[in-house]
Order: sequence, then structure tokens, then C-alpha cells
Amino acid sequence: MSNSRISKFYAKSLSQRLAEIARALDVPETDLTSVLQSGGLDPTTADKMIENVLGTYALPFGLALNFTVNGVDRLVPMVVEEPSVVAAASGAALRIRNGGGFVAETLGNAMTAQIETHGVADPSGAQTRIHAAAGDLLAMAAEAVPGLVRRGGGPLDLEVRALGNGYLVVHVQVDCKDAMGANLVNAVAERLGPEVARLAGGTMGLRILTNLCDQRRVRVTCEVLSIDLEDRGCAMDGMQVAEGIEAASRFAEIDPYRAATHNKGIMNGIDSVVLATGNDYRAVEAGAHAYAARNGSYGALATWRRSDTGLAGALELPLSLGIVGGTLRVHPGAQLALKILGVETAAELAEIAASAGLASNLAALRALATEGIQKGHMALQARSVAAEAGATGSEVEAVAALIVEAETIHVQAARVALTKLRFPERS
Ligand code: MEV
Repeated sequence: MSNSRISKFYAKSLSQRLAEIARALDVPETDLTSVLQSGGLDPTTADKMIENVLGTYALPFGLALNFTVNGVDRLVPMVVEEPSVVAAASGAALRIRNGGGFVAETLGNAMTAQIETHGVADPSGAQTRIHAAAGDLLAMAAEAVPGLVRRGGGPLDLEVRALGNGYLVVHVQVDCKDAMGANLVNAVAERLGPEVARLAGGTMGLRILTNLCDQRRVRVTCEVLSIDLEDRGCAMDGMQVAEGIEAASRFAEIDPYRAATHNKGIMNGIDSVVLATGNDYRAVEAGAHAYAARNGSYGALATWRRSDTGLAGALELPLSLGIVGGTLRVHPGAQLALKILGVETAAELAEIAASAGLASNLAALRALATEGIQKGHMALQARSVAAEAGATGSEVEAVAALIVEAETIHVQAARVALTKLRFPERS
């Protein structure tokens, strides 16, 4: 993808958008339509994925535009039911683009296996014995994941944690390469369980990954020029908007109630990419919120500060995503999303998903610090209100425009607007 800016993409028809993206990807349009017209997944394939299948359940698959991450333009597929998430991320990515785009890095690529034992009478002796056997344990762990080791990944390191009350946990860090890694890490944990319990002199307990994968984090930063924080019709200048966004960030940093909503806005962007690419959004959510509470109280995952030129943002969180294995093996919609993204590693995918999170956060804070969230939100909801009132085809945009202009974004007003549109002679 050479350019993620596509002029007036939102105003094109669905078939024009499909044609444009097929051209950009240099694939036949049917490569897209054959997948997306069945909601990204056919029932026969779905029947092999989970149990007791009756069918499939579709959500909108949209593209966020204007993203440049580490100097590379990306079209970002998002699967989400909430109006305004895709538009907000695209709008914020455009503001960030002029400041150089997103700068992202992955801090480690290791998932952590937890091997727990309890009833350990002598935790300090157990720790000494396990440390002394670390080499053998890591070799044993490698035997549990031979394919991963062949691909250059595998167990890296081992740590012992005495939790008190006779509980002792061994953590094994496993480089999962381009897989999300849950199955790999669980295989390592189960392989080591009996030996760890024997060395600890305790009862073998749980053997499973932790979703607080803080050895596989992403950090993304961006700069927004103050001029790019301004909008036509907005009474505040760029530096005032920057000040408002910094104040909103500081509020989330000191108040868990606000932090939860602040982080929800970040996850709007991240989860949408995680879902589009067939990854485990529950794992991502669990890791993100546990990380947000790592210092003992729940805090903001992203922060914003005024800078000499405008505003600087930063987001850091654990993100365990894969581009091979699991759902990706069989889900055509997820495979298409990865093709559109053009990523070659799981780290690249995580960096883009985190960028979508930071963009979503900027969009929300900018709206909240200026005109409030409802105006833009409701305007974008107008199309679904128009459809609910019975508008079809081109009527949807026309009715939506009328109710937005009249600032009456509800179904009754949409019905009146639709009648006027269909029967102009009656008004
Ligand atoms: C809504 O989906 C997300 C927001 O509530 C996020 C925020 O308040 O920062 C707008």
C-alpha cells in the first residue's frame, strides 16, 4: 500500500470502495467480494471452528485511512459495531500524519508460561533448586515446542516467584515468533509441571499462560502539530485544544473511573483491528487492563502532553497478536484483513493495532475537550437512524443529512424527513 490517504472514501458507494481497494491491492475484486459478502466466514468453516454451530454472525468490516506507522502507509481493517470508531480513527490518523505519523516499537516478543505449585514448605530451598536446574528445565521446555524452536523461537528464560502461603510459581518466557502463542506456551507449562512440583517439593497446580504478557509490549508515540488540532468552526486554537487534551489525560491518570473510559476509547481502536485479524480480543483486553493496574491502582494506558509544536502522545501496553496459526489458518475474513494490512510479522501487526488505539484516544479526547462527544457521534449515527426509519439506498445519506442539519437525530424526525423526500409535493 503506497498511500493510505484516499480522498472522499466515505462518500463512495460500497461497490466503488471495493473496486478501489482491489486496485490498490492489485487483486481481482472478487477476491474481496467472495470473502466479505458472506460476512468473512462461511458456515461450513465456522462449523469446524467452534462447537454446536448454527451459522455465522457478521459485523461491519471497515477500513481506517491515513495511517502511517514507522514511515509505512497502512490501510487498517477494523471490525466493530459502533458508529464513529472508524471515522474517528481515520480523522485522528490524518492529524497525526502531518506530525510524522506513528512511531512504534515492540518491547520483547515473549509470552509467559506460569507453572504453579502449592504446599511448598521451604520456598527458599525450592527457589535455589529450581534455579540450579534452570538449564535442564529450559531444555525440557524446548522439547515441548520443536516446531517453534525450528522457526527460531522457543523458551528464553526462567524466573521463580514465591507468592507466600506456600505458593511458588515458575515463569518461563517463550519467544512465540509470529504466533499469538497460547497453545505453545501452554504446552511448555504442561511439560514442566511435574518436574517443577518435584523440585519445589509441592503439589502441582495450574499450568497455563498469563494474559498479562508484559514481556510482549508495544510502545507507540506521536506528535500532533497545533495547527492540526484546529477545525473550521471550532472556537479554540490549536494550543488551547492541546491544553484541553493534556488536562483530559491528567484526569485519566489520577482517576480510575475516568481511566476506565479513557482506556475503553483506546480499546475501540485496538479491539477492532484485533477482531478483523482473527485474534483473541479477550486476551488482549485482559492484558491491557491488568497492565493498566500494574502499579496498584488502575490508570491511563495512553498519556498526552503539550510540546513545543503542539501535542505529544504515548501509549504502552502488552499485546499478544499472531499472524499465523489458530483462527488465521481457516478464517478468510481474517486472512483478507492481513493481506490489506500487508504485515510480515506479528510485531508489525501489534504496532499498527496500538497506533489505532492511540488514534482513537486522540479523537475521543479532542472531541471531549472541545465540542463534546455527542455532536460528532450523533452525526455519524444519523445514517443508522435513517435506515431504522425506513430509508434505503441513496435515501439513507439524504435523510441523514437532513436530520443532522436540523439537529434532530432521532427516528421520528428521520421518518418525517423521509416522507418529505419521497413526497416533496406534500410539504
Ligand atoms: C466511546 O466508545 C469512547 C469514549 O467514551 C472514550 C473516552 O471517553 O475517552 C468517547
